[in-house]
Amino acid sequence: MPQITDIKGFAFDLDGVLADTARFHSQAWQQIALKLAIPWTERLEAGIKGIDRAASIALILNSVHRYDEFTAAEINQLMQEKNQIYNEYITTLTPKDVLPGIYQLLVELKQHGFPMSVASASRNAPAIIARLGIADFFTGIVDPAKVSAGKPAPDIFLEAAQILELQPAQVIGVEDSSAGVASIHAAGETSLGIGPEAFQAQIHFDNTAELSLTSIEAKLKSLH
Ligand code: BG6
Ligand code: MG
Repeated sequence: MPQITDIKGFAFDLDGVLADTARFHSQAWQQIALKLAIPWTERLEAGIKGIDRAASIALILNSVHRYDEFTAAEINQLMQEKNQIYNEYITTLTPKDVLPGIYQLLVELKQHGFPMSVASASRNAPAIIARLGIADFFTGIVDPAKVSAGKPAPDIFLEAAQILELQPAQVIGVEDSSAGVASIHAAGETSLGIGPEAFQAQIHFDNTAELSLTSIEAKLKSLH
């Protein structure tokens, strides 16, 4: 387990970590499921977190064994419809939608010289980060279109470390989803999980309001 002195940078997931946008993804997918008369379950609610658009629609259709009913063009259309609904939701975002404690944490990490990157599966990440007014904190945002595999594969968090010009072992990855924590572990980074679905993370917090350099350092120490 690393010490805080081994850590040189942070890679942040976006949806459910920097902003409360996970609920918008969920609401948009629920509308698609309703249209297809597919029941929305807790399993779907948790399962769509962290995974990309194509994996999400596959999960939803497979939940009722209907994936094979749809052509590739139809699946594409469903993904576009979901993204249109999602894009309407995110036009309402302002800096007030940054989750509690996050802005202060970004300020603190910047003051202490930790470079930061965004490790999100979302193609909408640059637009959301701009709307939240926090773009200047980040060295870069991973472009999920340029990595070959989404979470839980390591690619997004590996790319996030590369943006920081750091080795994965020098990076803490911050996640709220189970697929995201698996991605951090596969990349060889230290995982910081937030909320009930990220319980497999090496260090864990119930919510973002608990995050600070001191609380992160204390949790890392308690693991030794
Ligand atoms: C992740 C979300 O951050 O981004 C997923 O947790 C979402 O729910 C994924 O499917 C892809 O997002 P987008 O904006 O490219 O459809
Ligand atoms: Mg997330």
